[in-house]
Amino acid sequence: MNGSNQGKPWRILIASSHPLFAKGLRSLLEERREMDAVVVGLVATIDEALTALESLQPDLVIVDYDDERVNRDEFLARFVEGEGRLRVVLLSLKEGGSEAIVYDRRTMAASQIDEWLEMWNENQAPFIPPGISPGKGTPQIPKPRRRDSMKHFIAAALVVIVLMAAGLYGYQQINLLPEQASLQGASIDNLFGIHFIAIIVLFSLIVGLMVYSILVFRRKAGDTSDGPHMEGNTKLEVAWTIVPLGAVLVLAYMGGTTLGDIQALPDQKPLQVKVVGSQWAWRFEYPELGIISTELVLPVDEQALLELSSTDVIHSFWVPEFRVKQDALPGEDFVRELRVTPTQIGEYKVRCAELCGRLHHAMESPVKVIAQQDFEAWVKSKTVACTGPVECGNLWYQQFGCQACHSIDGSVVVGPSWKGIFGKEESISDGTSVLVDHDYIVESIRNPGAKITAGFQNLMPANIAANMTDAQIEDLIAFIESLK
Ligand code: CUA
Repeated sequence: MNGSNQGKPWRILIASSHPLFAKGLRSLLEERREMDAVVVGLVATIDEALTALESLQPDLVIVDYDDERVNRDEFLARFVEGEGRLRVVLLSLKEGGSEAIVYDRRTMAASQIDEWLEMWNENQAPFIPPGISPGKGTPQIPKPRRRDSMKHFIAAALVVIVLMAAGLYGYQQINLLPEQASLQGASIDNLFGIHFIAIIVLFSLIVGLMVYSILVFRRKAGDTSDGPHMEGNTKLEVAWTIVPLGAVLVLAYMGGTTLGDIQALPDQKPLQVKVVGSQWAWRFEYPELGIISTELVLPVDEQALLELSSTDVIHSFWVPEFRVKQDALPGEDFVRELRVTPTQIGEYKVRCAELCGRLHHAMESPVKVIAQQDFEAWVKSKTVACTGPVECGNLWYQQFGCQACHSIDGSVVVGPSWKGIFGKEESISDGTSVLVDHDYIVESIRNPGAKITAGFQNLMPANIAANMTDAQIEDLIAFIESLK
């Protein structure tokens, strides 16, 4: 046993559930008189061994290699790799103790011991171990094959690199995002790109190593052995804590600077636009220009400050080409701001990105980004005063968003069509009927829920006419009256 044990006899603990193993080992030890050893106990489980450790104080544990009830990996892990550093020998007794094979597994993994055993069998080399004879040393075990693990490392790394390259190539080939049409969109796309590349790298690393392991290290037919026992790996654990923590902090910092970018104030005063969402239409008001519109018209390269609100439920303003998105909330205290600097002349669409009811999917309005001089012309055309109540009523019909729900050609959208409605006797939902006259229309605009036409639901926003003057309502009535 590698020299002396300071003159004292080796105290041996046997781990086996077979009494015959202990008996055979004892006689083997007695045969080899030159070894000064005493068997101090016999245990079958790791718990018994731990108890015996205190009371019996063994120097060496000899584990019955052939006993399946003794978990040899656990013994190795607890006593060799763990604390205490007790010497453990795996020993296989043949022919009632006439021959013993010693496996010193301190330097071997479980899979390697099987290979090692096969190697001995192939070579037909009778191995009478010097292991339990003092002075002759334990058998030399081949080191773990470094070249093998290097081979696996390189092969797995290649799989990961191929996956990463394919992912990055694919990412460049497919256009995940629509056209980028705002200054704010540039910062967001930059951040999106970084995240997407990080996802490709992580995906390749995880899936590559996993697939490689599943294919290459799969169980071979007939192999019923357990895998090697592994205790922790402190370096690896520290690394996989620090690296993701650092990554999250870096991404959080980049998220913060991007948020700063998209909320940055412009050099000049931004164009103020009040955006009002209601089930299921958008209205755009330009308070400084005196314009109300159902389409959002913006001059290119000038920041627009959108002030978002809702007349009923939560909506969400989203023009995908602008990238930025913000909720429109009901209630006057909840005006949300969104800054957009369009960079591309073109026609887009604002969508509602918050499920807001039956026609949520149809809550779209045109968005036009036009040149500065075209915008000035548009403002001029919008502010030209209408002449006559019918023409003005038609204008209010479009500007206040009535057209989203009421057609003027007889088709039914959300509410009754206005065509030929004036002077008509309408059935209402409580079973009575009402004459559609001046007073009824005023009531239906100011207090939409008062009388609901039979067959329709109470869907008109209660305060849709909050910004409508009495004169404008008179114009609307004249317009409705004209729709014979
Ligand atoms: Cu408004 Cu969805």
